[in-house]
Amino acid sequence: MTQDQAKELVGRRAAEQVEDGMRVGLGTGSTATMFIKALGERVKQGLKIRCVASSDASHRLGQSLGMEMLTFHELPELDLYIDGADEVGPGLALIKGGGGALLREKIVASAAQRFLVVVDSSKVVPELGRFPLPVEVIKMALPVVERKLSSLGLHPHLRRHADGAEYLTDENNYILDCACGSIPDPSRTAAAIRSVVGVVEHGLFLRMAGAVLVAGDQGVTELRA
Ligand code: 5RP
Repeated sequence: MTQDQAKELVGRRAAEQVEDGMRVGLGTGSTATMFIKALGERVKQGLKIRCVASSDASHRLGQSLGMEMLTFHELPELDLYIDGADEVGPGLALIKGGGGALLREKIVASAAQRFLVVVDSSKVVPELGRFPLPVEVIKMALPVVERKLSSLGLHPHLRRHADGAEYLTDENNYILDCACGSIPDPSRTAAAIRSVVGVVEHGLFLRMAGAVLVAGDQGVTELRA
């Protein structure tokens, strides 16, 4: 099975978990996109749901598929949030933010009763940190935060587009991707990053995921917290 096939399979499986009347958080990224498209098919067949997305891109995708897309001003609580991840480690600790939406993703996850993660098997790791940890930073604070994250040994690099322009999040902030290499104690790393003034949010999602659906050659398996 290719990685794209695994993403489609797990996206479809996740869409089956959505029930009529649910308030659903829509994630961001290629796996979440597969989920949203599969969910869109169910909406076309008559499923009634209300949704909040974790990025402008997913909001627009939901709208294009005929879903009722709202904001937290209209729908501040959600039943279920479904999203991808860049890494899934022990205890369902996650690295997220490869797609740059970590801040809104963490807010949406925090507003949901249940957070279901969808990944292909390449994302499940024995220890977090091979994937660079994204940290969202207030623009004017960038040089200060960069120095402090460097002094913590986190090797931050400003995220840029292919043409060299700085990457900006939906909230108009920068992202520093931290080449940590290994994160043996995610809680400690999260606390250290959070202590730096000017950091808006980091991509460590700890004790948030309730379950992870993993797609691979054996089909879809479920990891539980
Ligand atoms: C976006 C995310 C994504 O969920 C994460 O990057 C995984 O993306 P993909 O499903 O494309 O591999 O956190 O900010």
